[in-house]
Parts: sequence; structure tokens; C-alpha cells
Amino acid sequence: MTTNARPDAGRNASPYLYGPESSAVAAVLEAGQYGHSSVVEEFERRIADYLGVPEAVAVTSGTAALHTALLAADVGPGDEVIVPSMTFCASVQAVLAVGATPRFVDVDPATLCITADLVRDAVTDSTIAVMPVLFGGRAVDLSAISDELTERGIAVIEDAAHAFGSRTGGRRVGTTGDLTCFSFGPIKNLTCGQGGMLIPRTPQEAQRARAIRLLGVVQSQGERATATTYTVGAYGLRYQMSGINAAIGLAQLDHVQHMEEVRRSLWRAYRDALASLDGVTVVDVDPEQSVPHLCQVRVALRDEVFTEMRAQGIGIGVHYPPNHLQPAFAQWHRRLPATEQVAGEILTLPFHQHLTPADIAKTVAALARSLKTVEAAA
Ligand SMILES: Cc1ncc(COP(=O)(O)O)c(C=O)c1O
Repeated sequence: MTTNARPDAGRNASPYLYGPESSAVAAVLEAGQYGHSSVVEEFERRIADYLGVPEAVAVTSGTAALHTALLAADVGPGDEVIVPSMTFCASVQAVLAVGATPRFVDVDPATLCITADLVRDAVTDSTIAVMPVLFGGRAVDLSAISDELTERGIAVIEDAAHAFGSRTGGRRVGTTGDLTCFSFGPIKNLTCGQGGMLIPRTPQEAQRARAIRLLGVVQSQGERATATTYTVGAYGLRYQMSGINAAIGLAQLDHVQHMEEVRRSLWRAYRDALASLDGVTVVDVDPEQSVPHLCQVRVALRDEVFTEMRAQGIGIGVHYPPNHLQPAFAQWHRRLPATEQVAGEILTLPFHQHLTPADIAKTVAALARSLKTVEAAA
């Protein structure tokens, strides 16, 4: 059985398996503990050790991590959370899940990330949290306004779904004192199949998050096994990670160094190959510090280039259609000029660990041809 099928050229992203994932899953299945178990706790410990933090709390998905983090930080109805429109809709849905209001903020077109200045301009008296999205793996540095945010009691809850392994100022994302949420979904830098991880700021927050992910039950799974009752202390959800998913994550974590190197080198190979193309701007993920999750470019006549590349069998994508223009979020619409401009320009090139230099050359050649065809027709 092959454990690591290479995706066809039409795929934009793909999981990458190292081999031991299958036997790790089989071991959990045979052991018969599919819910929260020592395997999940080992995964949490290993993630905490890798990052160099005291605690990590595993949950079912990145979305669940964001939802749990917002609950643990006491964000709720009447509160405003500053969030970029340029993100996956999961960030916004997590804000709505706690009854809070998203306040959409613009991004820097060069990075697709929010900046300290943009956040400062968006803060209102109702702002309780900022949710920077670490777009494509790039860390967001809000240190220029961190004192202001602290004085106003505004928490930073990072959506680091793309940024597992990335650094900022030499420190790993997750260790900078913010509440950080990772996704270990199917195509993320590290996959559990599905999964997420929350890095709490304090032991109390960790305890709160552990209770929230277990339906508000105060006792740990181990304590419950040896007692005749348990206490439901507060609101909670069925968000605990399955041992099956944790086993996949543990197997992946053994290869994290390899993952970091491959992703960096693929991203740089794209950047170098794209440098000679006129009319193409690479969205900068800062590969010296980041572990790239996406490789994106900006081009004119994006829709036409997209169609042309798809016709050539290239797995091109778009991350993301802006949220402030989505019907579900229409009531929180604000004008966001940079987001609206880049929304019509961004293209995500195929990016995953199966790629070879030949794949990259093929995609870049297809992009060059597509640009010519589209320009000629314009
Ligand atoms: C920016 C961003 N935030 C949050 C999520 C949600 O993570 P998950 O799919 O694990 O729920 C994703 C997933 O793709 C994402 O890209």
C-alpha cells in the first residue's frame, strides 16, 4: 500500500505523509481508545516541547482552536474582534460563534497581512481582541502597538493556521505571549488528518481551554475514570482531539525539520523562477523566518489567467475571496481598498511537499504562457 500518493498536477495543495502514519493510526485503533487519550497528551507535550512553551491544548480543528481561544479569553456578545477580511472564512465564523462582532481590517498588499498601523486605525471602544492571520505562514508583528493594546485590555488571538513552524524575530510563532491557534488540517504544514492546537498564555487559560474542549467538564479524563461523578463547570463543546488524529500528528512531528527545509526551498525556487516574469508580483512570506504554507502571486486580469492555467492542467487556486464581501458577513462590511484591489489579483500556485523542481518550472512556464495569451486577447 502506498502511503504517500503524489497528487495529480491539477491539485493546488496536498498532504504529505512520511510513512509511519499508517502504523501509528493502526496502533491506536487496536488499542481501542479513540477519544482523548495518552496519545493526545503525548502529542500536546511534543508540540509544547517543539515550540518551547509550557502547555498546548489539542482540539478537533483550527476553527475549534479559534472558537475555544475566544471563549477562553472571555470574548462574547457586544465585543468587537478586529480580523482581516483577507482570510479563510473560519476566522470570521469563530468570532460569530462567540456572539462577537467582526471588525474587518485591511491588509498590506505586499504580504496580505494586517499591520500595526491598520489595527491602530480600526480599534474602537468595543474592541476586545485582534485576530491577526499569519497569511501564508508569515508572522504578524504587532509589537509597535502592543503597549497600547495591553493598556486598552485588547487581547491578541493569532490565527496561525498557516504558520506552524514559522518564527518572528527568531522566536517561534506560539511563543511570543499571544494566544495562538494552529490548524493541523489535511493540507497544513503538519497534518493530523483534522486537528488544531491552542497555545495558552497562562496555566489558568490552559485549564479553561481544556474544560471548554471537554464539554465544560472540570475533571480530566483520567480523574473521571476513577470517580463516581464529574462537574460541568461552564459552557463547553465536544472539541477534544481524537487519539487517531494525534497519532498522525506525532508521526509527522518526527519529520518537522524536513518539512521546514522542503517548504522553504520550494518557495525560494518559485521566487527565483518567477523573478524574470514581467507583470508578476510575488506575495512575500519572508522565508528566512517563515515556514511557507502558500506561494501566491498577484497579476492583472487574474480571472482570465486563472482560466488559462486551469485549461493547461495547472492546479491554480485563490486564497481567499474577501469575507467582507460575503453575504453571510454583509452587515459588517466596510470599505477595504487594498483588500478589494488584491482580491482581483491573487493567484495561489500549486504548493505542497510533493513538488519537484520540474513541477515548479512547468507551473512558471504555464504562467508565462497564460500571461502572454491573456495580454494578447485584452
Ligand atoms: C487562515 C485559516 N484560519 C483557520 C482555518 C481553520 O482551520 P481548520 O480547517 O483546521 O478548522 C484555516 C483552514 O484552512 C485557515 O486557512
